[in-house]
Formats: sequence, C-alpha cells, structure tokens
Amino acid sequence: MLLSRSSSSPLFLLCLLFFILHSPPGATADSLYQICGNYGAYTTNRSHETQGNYTANSTYETNLNLLLPDLVSNASLFGGYSSVMIGQFPNQTYGLALCRGDVNASLCHSCLETASQDILQLCPYKIEAIVWYDDCLLHYSNLWSLGTTGDSEEILMYNINNITTDRPLFEKLVDELLSAITDRAANNATMRFATGEVNSTETEFPTIYGLVQCTPDLWSSACRQCLQGITDPQPSLFQGKQGARVLGLHCNYRYEIYKFYVGESMVKLGSRTPAPAPWVPPLAKPPAPWVPPPVNPGKGTKVASC
Ligand SMILES: *[C@@H]1O[C@H](CO)[C@@H](O)[C@H](O)[C@H]1NC(C)=O
Ligand SMILES: *[C@@H]1O[C@H](CO)[C@@H](O)[C@H](O)[C@H]1NC(C)=O
Ligand SMILES: *[C@@H]1O[C@H](CO)[C@@H](O)[C@H](O)[C@H]1NC(C)=O
Ligand SMILES: *[C@@H]1O[C@H](CO)[C@@H](O)[C@H](O)[C@H]1NC(C)=O
Ligand SMILES: *[C@@H]1O[C@H](CO)[C@@H](O)[C@H](O)[C@H]1NC(C)=O
Ligand SMILES: *[C@@H]1O[C@H](CO)[C@@H](O)[C@H](O)[C@H]1NC(C)=O
Ligand SMILES: *[C@@H]1O[C@H](CO)[C@@H](O)[C@H](O)[C@H]1NC(C)=O
Ligand SMILES: *[C@@H]1O[C@H](CO)[C@@H](O)[C@H](O)[C@H]1NC(C)=O
Ligand SMILES: *[C@@H]1O[C@H](CO)[C@@H](O)[C@H](O)[C@H]1NC(C)=O
Repeated sequence: MLLSRSSSSPLFLLCLLFFILHSPPGATADSLYQICGNYGAYTTNRSHETQGNYTANSTYETNLNLLLPDLVSNASLFGGYSSVMIGQFPNQTYGLALCRGDVNASLCHSCLETASQDILQLCPYKIEAIVWYDDCLLHYSNLWSLGTTGDSEEILMYNINNITTDRPLFEKLVDELLSAITDRAANNATMRFATGEVNSTETEFPTIYGLVQCTPDLWSSACRQCLQGITDPQPSLFQGKQGARVLGLHCNYRYEIYKFYVGESMVKLGSRTPAPAPWVPPLAKPPAPWVPPPVNPGKGTKVASC
C-alpha cells in the first residue's frame, strides 16, 4: 500500500495506490515508485518551472544524457552518492544518485544503471523526475535542492500484513528503534546511514529490523531533522502494520519484522519484554563470584533478575 504526502502537511494525500511490499530482499530491480515532474512543488510555487517537458534534441536533453551516466559511475565509485549540476541557465540540469548504505559498489552500479534507463522511459521528456528502488534512488531536475530538506513530497508505503498481537508493544519498539538509528545515522559522518534491530519476547515479532538514511550532503542536524520529520510521529496509516517505509529525496526509513538489509545491524537494542521487570542498575564494581544463597537467609535479600 502506498501513497504520498507533503512533508509540511501530512493530511495532504496526493494519490493512493496499491502496492505489495513483501518482495524478498534483493530479488528485483523493479522500481518502487516514481514521480514525473512537479516534485517538490508543495511548499514553494515551483509548479510552473518543473512540471513542463523538454523537447527532443534540446540542450536540456543533451545535458541530461551527459549527466545520467556520470551520476551512475560516480555514485558507484564514490561511496554510493553523487550529485552535480551541469549546463547553463535556463537549460541547467541537476542530478542526484544515492544507493542504500549497505549495498556494495556492484549492486549500487546495477541499480543506478537500471534507474538511469528507466527514468527516461517512466518519465519521458519530463523536466524533473525521481525514481526509487529498494537499493537506490535517482533524481534530476532543473532546480537545485542540495543541502536542503523539507519542501518535497514523500511516499508512504506499508506492508499489508498486520500485527495481530501486542500492537502497543510493537509500536513502542519501532519508535525506540527508529529513534536510536536516527541518532546513529545523524552522527555518522562517513555515511548518514544506520541499520538496527530490537528483539522482543512476542513470537509474532521476535526481532524488528530498521534502516534510516539521509543524503550525505546534509549536516548532522539537518539529517536528524529530516528523519524526525518523517518518523516522529509516524504516519497513523502505519498503525498495526508489520512493516512500513517512507521514501523521500533527502531521507528515508523502513522497518520490517524480517531482515531486509545486508550485513550485521549497526545498532542492537537489548531484548524487550511486554511487561519489563524493573531495571536494576549494573554494579559499579565487577560482580563477586556467584555464591549459592544461604538456605535460611538471616536478613531480607533481594534477588535481581536481569
Ligand atoms: C503558482 O505559479 C503559477 C504560475 O506562475 C500561478 O498561476 C499560480 O497562481 C501560483 N500559485 C500560487 C499558490 O501562488
Ligand atoms: C508534457 O507532455 C505530456 C505528454 O506528452 C502532455 O500531456 C503535457 O501536456 C505536456 N506538458 C506541458 C507543460 O507541455
Ligand atoms: C533529433 O535528432 C535525431 C538525430 O539527429 C533525429 O533523427 C530526430 O529527427 C531529431 N528529432 C527532433 C524532434 O528534432
Ligand atoms: C537553452 O536551450 C535552448 C533550446 O535547446 C537553446 O536555444 C538555448 O540557446 C539554450 N541556452 C543556453 C544558455 O544554453
Ligand atoms: C564525477 O567525478 C569526476 C571526477 O571526480 C568529476 O569531475 C565529475 O564532475 C563527477 N560527475 C558527477 C556527475 O558527479
Ligand atoms: C554485492 O552484494 C550482492 C548482494 O548482497 C552479492 O550477491 C554480491 O556477491 C556482492 N558483490 C561483491 C563484488 O561483493
Ligand atoms: C489488516 O487490517 C486491515 C484493517 O483492519 C484490513 O483491512 C486488512 O485486510 C488486514 N490485512 C491482512 C493481510 O489481513
Ligand atoms: C557509518 O556508516 C558506515 C557505512 O554504512 C559504516 O560502515 C560505519 O560503521 C558507520 N559508523 C558508525 C560509527 O556507525
Ligand atoms: C535477537 O535475537 C537473535 C536470535 O535469537 C539474536 O541473534 C540477536 O543477537 C538478538 N539481538 C539482540 C539485540 O538482542
């Protein structure tokens, strides 16, 4: 299930389409969604500038044809991200390519290669377009949006399967997880990306996996702000769903009850139980060797279970 909203007004629903999310990780390079023209026109009046078409053999087309292969190869070579603007006003073309933080250079390259071909097919002669995949996203426009957040539309998608047991616990754990990995991603200067997992004792969702990413051009605080803008609070549409994601240009996130990314989780939150025992502070000193309790303790002794 999928729809899009403006980041500044969550109630502004733009479209409503059906989409089944439960595809196995890495099995397909099919696009998740695309927006052809008009992207980002929701808080600034850019509609007249970005919803138009370019014409065949125009300077804009020539620039775009130079830009796309360059973006693909540079992003694959330089850590999964590339952005550049070429050409002169009014024919300048700005492009951005971003691979998911956990995919390797060859997968990044093949995802963007597909994207650079698809984007011209999916959005023919559009002055602006963006296409999202599991492993990458590709965007071009005649307007520059580097280093800024906000003024663009987001796509909401959710797993059609429902949580049928302890929804409040599930939602609490998801919030904790997203908050923890948002911190990690915002503080990671190498790549504004983090994955994480949290366990529970609930058999329906023994482990919840999450992923967040910002474009690397964002400062730490802007990345945090972008992610908090889409995770806190989460869209009410996601309530009771086994997984969900928000696709944006500058940041995105996803969570599921199965692992959908490559490699070890970067953040591991300890096991959570539905009714947690009171937290017991760890001992300041290394604990003494375990001694069997006396059969008849003279004074009241408390046994802490951790
Ligand atoms: C946006 O720009 C178009 C074209 O210039 C204009 O017709 C329209 O009224 C503007 N919309 C707003 C909300 O300013
Ligand atoms: C752009 O092209 C599409 C399809 O050819 C057409 O429907 C649309 O009206 C065009 N838009 C502009 C602003 O020329
Ligand atoms: C664009 O250029 C190609 C090759 O030069 C030519 O075949 C085609 O007719 C041109 N199209 C337009 C719309 O001018
Ligand atoms: C922009 O493109 C148009 C049409 O392709 C062309 O006539 C014009 O000279 C270009 N302007 C610049 C500054 O490149
Ligand atoms: C790709 O990298 C080369 C070398 O660093 C640079 O000159 C070029 O502008 C880059 N292009 C893009 C689209 O990032
Ligand atoms: C890149 O990752 C994919 C999927 O995880 C894997 O199948 C492939 O072997 C990896 N390629 C390299 C060169 O490591
Ligand atoms: C999940 O719950 C919604 C709303 O209660 C329901 O419409 C939908 O059919 C359920 N999905 C599945 C896969 O059971
Ligand atoms: C930062 O992100 C990179 C790339 O995903 C990862 O290898 C590294 O471990 C992260 N650093 C921290 C401190 O999380
Ligand atoms: C969650 O459980 C799995 C399987 O039991 C285990 O491999 C993993 O380390 C646990 N993670 C955390 C954060 O406790």
